[in-house]
Amino acid sequence: MPYVNTKEMLADAKKNHYAVGHFNLNNMESVRAFLLAAEEVKSPIILGVSGGTAKYMGGYHTITDMVKDFMDYLKITVPVCLHVDHGTYDEALAALEGGFSSIMFDGSKLSMEENIEKTRYLIGLCHAKGVTIEAEVGAIGGEEDGRISEGECADPKQCEIMKDLGVDLLAAGIGNIHGKYPADWKGLHFDVLDNIQKLTGDLPLVLHGGSGIPSEQVRKAITLGVTKVNVNTECQIAFTEATRKYIEEGKDRIKNGYTPRNLLAPGLEATKAKCIEKMELFGSIGKA
Ligand code: 13P
Repeated sequence: MPYVNTKEMLADAKKNHYAVGHFNLNNMESVRAFLLAAEEVKSPIILGVSGGTAKYMGGYHTITDMVKDFMDYLKITVPVCLHVDHGTYDEALAALEGGFSSIMFDGSKLSMEENIEKTRYLIGLCHAKGVTIEAEVGAIGGEEDGRISEGECADPKQCEIMKDLGVDLLAAGIGNIHGKYPADWKGLHFDVLDNIQKLTGDLPLVLHGGSGIPSEQVRKAITLGVTKVNVNTECQIAFTEATRKYIEEGKDRIKNGYTPRNLLAPGLEATKAKCIEKMELFGSIGKA
């Protein structure tokens, strides 16, 4: 079964100048939508799980089992990675125990010393289990699971320290924001990204807040070393808009249109279509 960590998929992406999409799970429909999308277009995929999603979907063991069982049932042949998104220290440990193939430890709100110390410890635990680990420096703006931050560009020297510690991938703030971008957003700071890539070489870099960034900026970020792009908000909106349309058209009142499986089907299809649209932009189609 192609349940993998990020190592090989991101090494290939870095070498061949494309990015692998990280798509956040929110419910069972999203598991199905993303797996079907990846298989249809033969793309590798990373499924991201925030602390909020882990609580909602029954914890890390449940999610690991659900993803693996769905992969089996749907006969998925492309590489699939199950990754913690913005994990706290405790969430990272719980996900490791729960069978995830990759984790992100987000120590960006700690002092740099504490971020380094905890990241170093988790690298040891992860690598002993063949699990990859993403760290974060700088801060990504916006709101995620109730935590709001202003955003702060990463210091390239701190990125180099994280590379030397042995992280497998690195999220570095470059003006990116989670959720919707404000109208007066200044765009990505490519000068910072360029400096980070010069100091971190072949380390895969991660662009969070992948929803709503103009396509040409995403493409440029990929040419400057971004090999994983995280997307959540755009897929959520696609799901919600398709569901609203179904209800506004009164389809839930026709025959057994009220059945949750029927009610949620247009949202699932819209999520899948959005995922494929992003894979096209990231250049990962046909790479698995
Ligand atoms: P968006 O919700 O802005 O797409 O960001 C997702 C993300 O970065 C998850 O870590």
